[in-house]
Amino acid sequence: MNFFTQILHIVGSGATAYISARSMRDLQTRPDVLAAFQLAESGSVPFLEALRDRASSEGNDWLSERLDRHASDERRHGQIFAHALKQLNKQVIDFKKMPQKVVDGRPDERKQSPFFGAYFAGYSQDDLKPANIPWAVFFASTYILELDASHDFLRMANTLPEDEPRSANLKKGMISIAQDETGHAAYLREAMERYLGESATQRAIDEWRTRKVNAMLAMVSNFIQKAGKMPSMVQEGAPVEMERQESEKVAA
Ligand SMILES: [Fe+2]
Ligand SMILES: [Fe+2]
Repeated sequence: MNFFTQILHIVGSGATAYISARSMRDLQTRPDVLAAFQLAESGSVPFLEALRDRASSEGNDWLSERLDRHASDERRHGQIFAHALKQLNKQVIDFKKMPQKVVDGRPDERKQSPFFGAYFAGYSQDDLKPANIPWAVFFASTYILELDASHDFLRMANTLPEDEPRSANLKKGMISIAQDETGHAAYLREAMERYLGESATQRAIDEWRTRKVNAMLAMVSNFIQKAGKMPSMVQEGAPVEMERQESEKVAA
């Protein structure tokens, strides 16, 4: 990673942490942030489960166990954000009612997100399917995202007040999410070292750090082009699906 990339990374993560912390603290903008996190966290579950099955079919129990744990953590993270939305009488909009392309059970992020388009530049949609993605690409790309998420979630949690019950509840949830993300980054780094050895691991980390900085720039310039308008992803009302899952859990 060159010096310029390093500086941009620091500025970039500071700026996003500032913007997301502000939007999370403000009850007006909080629902959209929660919805985006709910979608991102829950959306990764089918992908991780498919990778878990692939690792196990390749006889790699070490990796398959970690991916299983990773998938169930992300499912729990999605539920924490869904619950926080429900406390504000909101829910994620019903994407089934909207025309959209779905790949492997998850939204085609590359078509929708300039961030993912830039982050995975040079890789086709097919290359990134759970059956095809090279393990080293999965480990390094996810390692960077998990590591940054652990810091960002903790910073956001720290800005939430403790004297208002809904915020205090969310704060507790986000601190535990941040701890899980740290754990995910740790096993991914260990996996990288097992596969690549120490020096290739360092090179892979540098490459994906640079990609992340470029992806942030792509996202910011797209945001500026759209004059700061983000599509809303929430609607009024508590999610029926969520409530059912919760009562099933209580019954279990
Ligand atoms: Fe997560
Ligand atoms: Fe994670």
